[in-house]
Formats: sequence, C-alpha cells, structure tokens
Amino acid sequence: MSKFILQPSAVTGEPSKYSTETNLVHADEFLNDVNDVAPPIHVSTTFRYPRDPSKLIAAKDLPIEDAESHVYSRLSSPSTARLEAILSSHLNGYALVYSSGVAAFHAALVHLNPRQLSGSLFYHGCHGVADIHSRLTGMKQIPLDCPVEDLQPGDVVHLETPLNPLGTAFDIKYYADRAHSRGAILIVDSTFAPPPLQDPFEFGADIVMHSGSKYIGGHSDVLAGVLVTRDLKRRWGLWEERLYLGGVMGNLEAWLGVRSVRTLELRVLRQSENATRLAGWLSGEIGKGGVVGKVVESVKHASLQEEEWVARQMKGGFGPVFGIEMKTELLAKTLPSHLELFAHATSLGGVESLIEWRAMSDTTCPTTLLRLSIGVENWEDLKNDLLQAFEKLATDQSVLNGKD
Ligand SMILES: Cc1ncc(COP(=O)(O)O)c(C=O)c1O
Repeated sequence: MSKFILQPSAVTGEPSKYSTETNLVHADEFLNDVNDVAPPIHVSTTFRYPRDPSKLIAAKDLPIEDAESHVYSRLSSPSTARLEAILSSHLNGYALVYSSGVAAFHAALVHLNPRQLSGSLFYHGCHGVADIHSRLTGMKQIPLDCPVEDLQPGDVVHLETPLNPLGTAFDIKYYADRAHSRGAILIVDSTFAPPPLQDPFEFGADIVMHSGSKYIGGHSDVLAGVLVTRDLKRRWGLWEERLYLGGVMGNLEAWLGVRSVRTLELRVLRQSENATRLAGWLSGEIGKGGVVGKVVESVKHASLQEEEWVARQMKGGFGPVFGIEMKTELLAKTLPSHLELFAHATSLGGVESLIEWRAMSDTTCPTTLLRLSIGVENWEDLKNDLLQAFEKLATDQSVLNGKD
C-alpha cells in the first residue's frame, strides 16, 4: 500500500502511542523527505518519474494503491498528502480533502448515488448540492424524521450536528440505528464540532464530513472540504472519483491547512469554552429584566439542551457557534454595527469572533436571528462588547420601538 495512506489507529485497532494534540503536530512526519522543520510549500502540479528506466512501471501494470510517489497533483501532492495524514489521525478514519465543503458533499452523493436522501435541516449550500443531484439522477428527498419504513437499503441519511445556524445538537446514535436498521447509510456533517468536541464514528456514522473552511482552516483564509470513512474500499472509490470530478484541494491551500491543523485542538477547546460561557451568561440574563432581557428573546446552543445524550455525544465540549433570537428584526439588524470585536460577516470557525444577521445569507431563517461564531479572544472581552452593544440598543428608542 502507498506510503501516502496513513493507517489510522482507529481502523487498524492499534491505539496511537500519542495523544491527539501530539498527533496534530507529528502525524505527518513519516512524509518528511527534506530536513526542514516547517513543511516546505510545494506548488508543482507534476512530478518527475524515476531516472532509472528499470524503475519505470507502465500505469496499466501498477495498481494506483501501490504508487509510492506523486505523479500529478490531481492524484496526490505533498501538501494534501500531509493534510490527509494528519486529518486521518485526528478524525479517526481515512480522510480525503476536497476544494470545499460542498465539493465534499457532492463527492459523497456521487459515490453513494442513493435513490433517496433523508435529511431536512442542514446547511442551505448542501441543499443546493442535493437539488442538483436530484435533478441529474432523480434522487428523492425525504424528511430526516420520515417514518422509518420509508428508508430503503442504500438510501442516505444526512445529519448535521451541531446544526447550522443555531448550534443545537441531534442524537447521532438514534439516527445511525434508524438508518442501519433499514440498510441505509449515515453521513454526519460534523463541521460545527470537530474532535475533540465530538467523534460521530463513536455513535455509528458511516461517513463524516467537514467544511474544512471552518475549524480545520481556522483562520478564515482557506476553503476546504473533508470526507472521512473507516472503510478502505470506500476510501479508494472516493479517491478515484475525486480524480475525475477534479474537486481536489489546491497546493497552497493544503499547505495553509497543514499549518492550521497543528493548533486545531488548542483553538477549538478555547472557542468551545468561550461560546459555552457566553451562551450560559446570555440565557441567565434574559429572565432578569436587565438590559439583555430588553432586547434578546432567546438563546440557542447545545449547552442549553437538557437531553442526557447531548453531553455524552459532545464529551469534549459544545460547538463554538450559537444563535440569538432578538425581540425584533430591527434589533437583530442593528446589533452587529454596535460591536467592536465581532466582525459582521458570514462563516465561522476562525480565531476571530463573527456575528451575522443570518438573513443576509440564509433565506430560510427568521429575520430576528443572529448567528455568533466565537473565536479565541478573552471571553470577558467578548461579553463586555456584547453588553455595551445591548446597552446602546436598549437606550435607543427609535431602534427599540422599531422605527428605522
Ligand atoms: C455545516 C456546513 N456544512 C457545509 C458547508 C459548506 O462548506 P464550504 O463553504 O467549505 O463549501 C458549510 C458552510 O458554511 C457549513 O456550515
């Protein structure tokens, strides 16, 4: 087997010698072929064949799984191989990287080619992909909570948890058991909570996907998608199809991705803790009749859910995104412009905190909704920034009474 494929310990059954933070820094060392400490940036799309004619093997005689060197970057390249090695270790399966999260979801649908896709509430961009796939193949789309008898062997259940844009959690084990009882396959979009927050494989996911543009990239400067499977045959199928679909990650992005994942665990744990503190503070304030209660209607976050499986599933911490429903649309629209530390922008997962009046990018959500993506800043600074913005809103009669 090619040296570019790491055997993740979760697949071989051999526990890794090191903990996850260590693997994020060292899992790609077997790919070092120069003595640089920081991985070099490789930009080549094509790679020299061996000079020795006796080492040249015609493609028809070489199973691609046995290739020991890079040939053309649509097949493999040094930086994507490194990123895949690290992510395979961290995400506990065989990881393949794509040019974006939607490209990864498209690749999964092409590979599985289900007659039915069961899923309701998931990222609107992935709904766009599903609609294209339905138009091309006739794939029927049915609700996530359809009667279980409606699921057929080979169908795909697509579960996003925690869910965009509210950061609320869905029970992976419940949906895995339902899908498997009917021979269906469960994809979990775990973008909002990468390990160490949750590992969907522990609860029965067949394929885990991530928009790598979020926590994996982590600095709002990389577009990427990831599919992870524990089935080596499926991994090769996806790999071969990616070669022809062409949705590979660029060399420079993959290099940035490697740089970013070194700190994935540090960032995500801090972001999770910050978000959980902020969501807890806000929900505690709402009923107190103070400034928060004057403008905020409700807060949504997995940390505020009471079902007992939530903490078990998210044993490393809750996702760093949560939603706030404001009392009126005008309050929701105005809050971002009073904030100093939060950028008003879409997306999530970067080191910097973002807030989005969600109606700007999502046509399906209420116009009173704000989505907050919490960064690695000091949480009390973020709290104080929110508080001063709520105070401005609460004392501005024209906004409070809904006059533009
Ligand atoms: C949950 C989720 N899945 C998938 C995607 C798509 O990822 P990308 O923007 O990298 O294509 C996003 C993007 O916001 C997302 O939030």
